[in-house]
Amino acid sequence: MIKNIIIDSDPGQDDAVAILLALASPDLNVLGITCVAGNVPLSKTSFNAKQICELAGKPEIPLFAGCDRPMGRELVTAEHVHGKTGLDGATLPEPKIELKTTHAVDFIINTLREAPKKSITLCPLGPLTNIGTALQKAPDIIDNIKQIVLMGGAYFEVGNITPAAEFNIFVDPEAAEIVFKSGIDLVVAPLDVTHKALTNQAWVSELKAQNNTICDVVAGWTSFFERFDVEKYGTEGAPLHDPCVIAYLISPELFSGRHINVEIETKSELTRGMTVADWWGVTDRPANALFLNDIDSEGYFRLLTTRISKL
Ligand code: RIB
Ligand code: CA
Repeated sequence: MIKNIIIDSDPGQDDAVAILLALASPDLNVLGITCVAGNVPLSKTSFNAKQICELAGKPEIPLFAGCDRPMGRELVTAEHVHGKTGLDGATLPEPKIELKTTHAVDFIINTLREAPKKSITLCPLGPLTNIGTALQKAPDIIDNIKQIVLMGGAYFEVGNITPAAEFNIFVDPEAAEIVFKSGIDLVVAPLDVTHKALTNQAWVSELKAQNNTICDVVAGWTSFFERFDVEKYGTEGAPLHDPCVIAYLISPELFSGRHINVEIETKSELTRGMTVADWWGVTDRPANALFLNDIDSEGYFRLLTTRISKL
């Protein structure tokens, strides 16, 4: 059954691979891509989204610019990981397609109001600012959302931007709190699972062997953003975070996790943005998210190569 999705993203090389996977998948109907400030400022994330859709040969995908800063904080970006453009590692042509003039938050609200109930899944791949703002501005859409499958948070893996917090949640903890307290069916792909989805040289070589421009670009992006994680964690490859969200929608059997309570730290500066995951059920706080912690990594990278090489 085809799933209707809205991707909310801060491209970012890993976001870009996630978008390519979605656009290469006939079982997903991408209703639109909404851009948010995160890895790089909004002007760059929305520019990058245009380049990615043109690379995929899908200029018809509606693209929207959203919030240019978190709901209640200064913006923190991650050029140290993704490079100045956010898509360092490959050179893409100047895009011709234009962004829609509707604000991303209004696109999300209007689309959900007009669609059949529970027919749309939201797929946030960056800070949750657009989603949190939409839920705050139009609480009536909460009941219309089928599911939110997001990349963000960490528990056993602890933080990647501070000792306590993962980047997407750290950037906008207030927005994350709105999402995690909404009661919407949540699936969370935290660092606990994405750190088991490590790229490797064999996969990059397999991509290059496809003799396919898109695969060459993905190989270039991967080689670029790998350097940060390889240096930091001493691993052979880098975690391909965001495509886990799309892969879960296509093949949920690649993943496993636990339905638990997850709350967001918004008060302390020391642990700002920490996802406090009650993995061992030590509180009576109600479960509000499927918190993924394992992946069939071979199957994941096979899915990526098979689908993206056919784009
Ligand atoms: O912490 C990893 C997340 O932060 C990924 O979504 C990456 O693209 C950045 O947004
Ligand atoms: Ca991202």
